[in-house]
Amino acid sequence: MFSLHTIKPAIMVAMLSVAGSFSAFAEPMKFLNFDQQGQLIRPTGYREWIFIGAPLTPNDMNNGKAAFPEFHNVYIDPVSWTYWKRTGEFKDETVIVKELVSVSGKQAVSGNGYFQGEYIGLEAMVKSRQQFPKAPGNWGFFRFTIENSDELHARAAAQAEHNCSTCHQHNAAKDQVFTQYYPVLRAAEARGQAGSGR
Ligand code: HEC
Repeated sequence: MFSLHTIKPAIMVAMLSVAGSFSAFAEPMKFLNFDQQGQLIRPTGYREWIFIGAPLTPNDMNNGKAAFPEFHNVYIDPVSWTYWKRTGEFKDETVIVKELVSVSGKQAVSGNGYFQGEYIGLEAMVKSRQQFPKAPGNWGFFRFTIENSDELHARAAAQAEHNCSTCHQHNAAKDQVFTQYYPVLRAAEARGQAGSGR
């Protein structure tokens, strides 16, 4: 026969381990991570976020050197997407990444066009009141691309305002995001849903 004293710790251990595994599930996903120096740690896992569009500035239409070459596959983190659907605003800690993809060819059996090839770069804009209290819209812009390389920087310092933000401030339709090029965002804006039907 077990005495109450020997059973109790066993039950407590069991309870603690159940609580532990629940809290592991409940742990909120963190999409935005800065290091001690305020550099943005390169976001990962974004190909499982919400894909909002793929603008294309092919090198061959830009004298061989587009500022952001070729396809731009753009993703927003899922928590900010939910907030956007509800409110039509980009929340604090929004992460938007644009992954650059080369043009692999211009002919397919479907016709002539531009077709995606290989991953060639990564840029990001992130909204953080804490990191960028004075920046317009609290946005910070980052470049992880290493030109002519498959590699990406593991972390990056915020770009100067005139390198990125100034153009976004003057030309983007909504809070520095070029929503004019993303029907996925426009269809869902403050509608509470993705707008999957017509
Ligand atoms: C001359 C204007 C201009 C400059 C400078 C510029 N961008 Fe953009 N950016 C755009 C346009 C236009 C788009 C949308 C169409 C596209 O991708 O070509 C865009 C899209 C983006 C997106 C996807 C979200 C969105 O708003 O569409 C990110 C992320 C981004 N840029 C980051 C950067 C970073 C980082 C820099 C600086 C290194 C930068 N941009 C500099 C014009 C600019």
